[in-house]
Amino acid sequence: MREVRIALIGGAGWMGKTHALIYASAPVIFGNEPARPILEIVAEATDEIAQKVAADYGARRWTSNWREAVEDPNVDVVDIVTPNSMHLEMAVAAAAAGKHVYCEKPLGLNADETREMVRAVEDAGVLSLVGHNFPHNPIHAVARDMIRAGELGDIVHARVSFNSDFLADEAAPFIWRCDRAAAGSGTLGDINVHLFSLTEYLVGPIAEVFGRMQTVVKERDVVEDASYGSGGGTRTGERRTVDTDDSVHMLATFENGCTGIFDTSRVAHGRKIEISYDIVGRAGSIRWTYDRLNELQVFSANDPVDRSGFKRIETGPSHPYYGAFFPIANIGMGYNEIKAIEVRELVRAATGEAVELWPDFSVAHRIQRYCDATILSDAERRWVDVSEIPE
Ligand SMILES: NC(=O)c1ccc[n+]([C@@H]2O[C@H](COP(=O)([O-])OP(=O)(O)OC[C@H]3O[C@@H](n4cnc5c(N)ncnc54)[C@H](O)[C@@H]3O)[C@@H](O)[C@H]2O)c1
Repeated sequence: MREVRIALIGGAGWMGKTHALIYASAPVIFGNEPARPILEIVAEATDEIAQKVAADYGARRWTSNWREAVEDPNVDVVDIVTPNSMHLEMAVAAAAAGKHVYCEKPLGLNADETREMVRAVEDAGVLSLVGHNFPHNPIHAVARDMIRAGELGDIVHARVSFNSDFLADEAAPFIWRCDRAAAGSGTLGDINVHLFSLTEYLVGPIAEVFGRMQTVVKERDVVEDASYGSGGGTRTGERRTVDTDDSVHMLATFENGCTGIFDTSRVAHGRKIEISYDIVGRAGSIRWTYDRLNELQVFSANDPVDRSGFKRIETGPSHPYYGAFFPIANIGMGYNEIKAIEVRELVRAATGEAVELWPDFSVAHRIQRYCDATILSDAERRWVDVSEIPE
């Protein structure tokens, strides 16, 4: 049986656990062909964490030196799930060691970093994939196919939003997402990038942006072992300045002339994970929300006026990958199933199948240029053409 052997760097965190869960369940969902993903080695910040995580996940080996994992001759794919500021060094080292690189979003801290990462994987001739997961929901392939086939006519408006309240509480501690040196940006790189990948997938590239960013809670408590929410950990009595954005509101013009509105916050009281898009074409509209993530609302302007209205398409076994999970429609795929599709594409590509890995580092670099353009727009209070951020 063929194996795709993974080095998971940062295994104990949220994404580490998610990726490990998918590797373990992938053979049950998809079978052993063309290969089975195997956790060859897990790297963590300390011996203690690495050893525990390797035992929990059933990894073959562990290390507290990530370079050892990257250079391991038994590893085919390096999977990077550490905080954003570590992605560049780890990804460049992985590519130089001839490994395929799977990295969580945002790919880097800024476009200078992501450009270097694109060069590293291109020079090494290895595959790359960035964990933008949400577009892998099969319902979005329906939406994209409709748009590409012209069923909605020319696309003229896209309104997208991602609101959450995970940092709305002022008592929620300082986490690495509040620190520009570790995260690059806040809501922009953490959350708004998901909207950038969704619109990139559905509408196409962005040409120009006008953005406003806000840091609403300017200082937070330093808490040992801090995690999400205000509970847990030990408060040290120290306070730390938050230098990343809590919200992003922006306008965009896409290359195809469509205008866009992006609305993102991590301090939006009462919104847990509220993601949605509303896309309008000259011949119809589509809309989708994460609260009903298995269905797409479609309006056709060609319907007779007395039959006109939104209809609902629900995902089912006729949509790619859905049938691997469930035999009948609308049972309900969730976050982990969608992440499993991302991993499935990686495994297929790593064994040489002609699968287009999307988004690869070059697409993620373009997305990072949208982020940098938004930061520049906010700083200079003007429209910024994405071409101002070097390719
Ligand atoms: N695609 C998504 O939906 C999604 C969701 C959450 C997070 N993310 C991304 O995943 C990445 C990780 O986020 P998270 O929420 O899992 O973070 P986290 O803080 O929960 O986990 C990070 C892990 O990295 C480990 N680590 C730190 N330094 C290390 C080192 N030198 N060597 C090895 N391990 C080290 C930490 O101990 C920790 O376990 C980020 O880039 C984030 O933006 C993506």
